[in-house]
Amino acid sequence: MNVTKDIQYVGVNDHKIDLFEGQYAVPNGMTYNSYVIVDDKIAVMDTVDIKFKDEWLANIAAVLGDRKPDYLIIQHMEPDHSANIKNFLEIYPDTTVVGNAKTFAMMNQFFQLDASVKRLTVTDKGTLELGKHVLTFLFAPMVHWPEVMVTYDSADKALFSADAFGKFGALDVEEDWDDEARRYFIGIVGKYGMQVQKLLQAAAALDIEIICPLHGPVLTENLNHYIEKYDIWSSYRPEREGIMIAYASIYGNTKQAAELLAAKLEEKGSKVVLADLAREDMAKCVADAFQYDTLVLASVTYNGDIFPVMKTFIHGLTERSYQNRKVAFIENGTWAPTAKKTMEGLLAKSKNITFAEQVVTIRSAVNAGVQESIEKLAEELCAK
Ligand code: FEO
Repeated sequence: MNVTKDIQYVGVNDHKIDLFEGQYAVPNGMTYNSYVIVDDKIAVMDTVDIKFKDEWLANIAAVLGDRKPDYLIIQHMEPDHSANIKNFLEIYPDTTVVGNAKTFAMMNQFFQLDASVKRLTVTDKGTLELGKHVLTFLFAPMVHWPEVMVTYDSADKALFSADAFGKFGALDVEEDWDDEARRYFIGIVGKYGMQVQKLLQAAAALDIEIICPLHGPVLTENLNHYIEKYDIWSSYRPEREGIMIAYASIYGNTKQAAELLAAKLEEKGSKVVLADLAREDMAKCVADAFQYDTLVLASVTYNGDIFPVMKTFIHGLTERSYQNRKVAFIENGTWAPTAKKTMEGLLAKSKNITFAEQVVTIRSAVNAGVQESIEKLAEELCAK
């Protein structure tokens, strides 16, 4: 696949994977992208997951024919991109491996390269001339690991963005970019908003027409859409008005309250998303909480604590710096309902959270009093 006349796509689709990075369900698979830039000198950008060694090397050979690559540029040492460095060097031993000081330190931790391997250590904003393509390396620490760098090719106005602007899903499956890019971003880089903001600032100074990420499609049109999404996500601003109700219910009584609240809110014209935390994809639930400006947490009291999936969910939010939102509570407990206090405590260190005044407390089942407090909560959440 041609990205441009000189940039060829040599990545692979993974439909064998069950969990990406050992935890994220990827029902539509995953891509590991790699590119070849063909000029007077030839550069290969990153490798792919270990399972796809043969397919990836065949893709490179199909592009190169009898020519040999001069450089293997490693933007990120996570194994989904670096696992085939040694396999590549067995085929192309004269290639110079390009990375920064941290890249090579990590490479030594994952595997030992033969002392004869040629290495080029680059610095932040350092350049590498391939011919008319001049590559500039921009360090992007913690997007998503400390050694990450992105690469700008001024000839084709292409930004090789490493994990940034990636998404879940293989390239041979049609699906919406926003939802799976949000789930990927919030899940994987959500904690590092400040570092992503720095990268966006550096990218703003560049003339970019193409974004070549390490996962997901090459982006060639309407780049402002993707950049705006990244700006919103990495600055922890809500993406849209709307109320997510995340519930953890045992016998259906807490669920009933959550559904009643959802109906009331919808009657009043709010966009509402209901999520059963025990049964839905946790990464999607966390990403949805970041998508909307208001969150209702509904949990049973359990072992003097809250239901385990609710604890996992709130931890998923706080470890990703959840902030700048309104949060309300529904709690249930037959003899000592304390879930609201526990949930509020778990969010105590989160920045700029406004807690709703109305708390819905259920003692076992929804009754007239609970219905009344649900109505009051709906009114409070819909008040402008
Ligand atoms: Fe796609 Fe951070 O690796």
